[in-house]
Amino acid sequence: MSPPEVIVHPDAAHLARAAAARLITRIVDAQWSRGSASIVLTGGGSGIGVLEQVAASPVLDAVDWRRVHIWWGDERFVAAEDSDRNDLQARVALLGHLDLDPDLVHPFPALGGPHGDDADAAAAWYAEELASHVGADPAETAFDVLMLGLGEEGHCASIFPQSPAARDQRAVCAVYDCPKPPPTRVSMTFPTLARSAEVWFMTTGAGKADAVAAAVGGADPLDVPCAGPRGRDRTLWLLDTTAASRLPQDRTRLP
Ligand code: 6PG
Repeated sequence: MSPPEVIVHPDAAHLARAAAARLITRIVDAQWSRGSASIVLTGGGSGIGVLEQVAASPVLDAVDWRRVHIWWGDERFVAAEDSDRNDLQARVALLGHLDLDPDLVHPFPALGGPHGDDADAAAAWYAEELASHVGADPAETAFDVLMLGLGEEGHCASIFPQSPAARDQRAVCAVYDCPKPPPTRVSMTFPTLARSAEVWFMTTGAGKADAVAAAVGGADPLDVPCAGPRGRDRTLWLLDTTAASRLPQDRTRLP
């Protein structure tokens, strides 16, 4: 488990562009060393903003997109065509512009899909999908990069403070009564979020500053879930100056 490294960008636009460049480079490196790459996307403004910048990148074609596995850390359990879906937002921002292998794109099932309104069944299906592609052993690294946003109260993916999901030891779980709408979601749990070589938290704005300081300072993940996930090789906190404003100065470095 790697310690948090903080990188501060001047604003949200710089952060999104720099993270997009970082993501492309990381995928190219993984493809050259192993033949394929595996990334985990996140919902939320910061995560989608990065995907938009990947789509706009002049070096987009440096990646062989047909050899990239795409996963989601969590999903809002709404209908497939609902604009709240992380999957749909990612398709609009980036995935719809790429030549992907559909067998390597792994969206969560939608409400009204094969599992109807059963979010538990949708979560169990996603756990099977993971197991069949990356194995079920939590000791095995499954992803090259896992991106996460965070909420003001410290949630990440759909793991909210003191929620049952924060204690769930299955690979994926359904989450009910979420404080951030929509109320029903499906989420990777901590054991799965811990299976990435690199974890990148990305967030902006003063509203996130307390959660960032608590997580980087080593808070209990039951209270501040974004303190939990760490990359096996690297844990990056990609912030703008306002989100970094409550960190002690020796934890920040300028790009
Ligand atoms: C979601 C998320 C969630 C999100 C944070 C940050 O589906 O809502 O995956 O964890 O990343 O709430 O969202 P913002 O970047 O919009 O603040």
